[in-house]
Amino acid sequence: MHERKTVLEGLVDDGGISVGHNNEVRLEMLALPENVGLARVSIAAFASQIDFSMGEVEEIKVAVSEAVSNAVIHAYPQGGWVKISARLTGRLLEVEVKDTGKGIEDVSQAREPSFSTEPGRMGLGFVFMESFMDGMDIQSIPGRGTTVRMWKECRPVEGSND
Ligand SMILES: Nc1ncnc2c1ncn2[C@@H]1O[C@H](COP(=O)(O)OP(=O)(O)O)[C@@H](O)[C@H]1O
Ligand SMILES: [Mg+2]
Repeated sequence: MHERKTVLEGLVDDGGISVGHNNEVRLEMLALPENVGLARVSIAAFASQIDFSMGEVEEIKVAVSEAVSNAVIHAYPQGGWVKISARLTGRLLEVEVKDTGKGIEDVSQAREPSFSTEPGRMGLGFVFMESFMDGMDIQSIPGRGTTVRMWKECRPVEGSND
């Protein structure tokens, strides 16, 4: 019990204001459509450890679904693994979605609204990730894979003391 108390004290800043958690999870799954929902709800539950609003949690769900769906749809014609990790540092959520699939030839083109290499797709996945999170970074090497990192800060509700 004593150790637990010390850990909790470490999460409270000098003004007695809760600054959130320090926590991390890693999930690894086959790049299959039926696993997208698991990634989505797992990261939403993880993010809910700090007081993101319901609307913000919905935005996080969409961003995670889009990133994991991209690994499922685009990265692996032959199948493969997707690694998802999420970290909370104080009030900052970071999510990383990594595949070792075919990679993206031109990342800035892929980020453009309505750009898709698959006929019939909307080409809005990266646009959603970028607009629903505070920021997004894409690292990709053709033939080696893609890592999308996104982050979102949980801002204190105005007028609230906690
Ligand atoms: N993980 C990935 N691996 C390979 N290519 C990807 C990946 N994610 C995105 N892409 C490429 O970037 C393009 C744009 O992605 P996105 O904005 O999500 O639109 P959409 O999925 O509708 O095509 C995709 O059409 C695809 O060519
Ligand atoms: Mg997409």
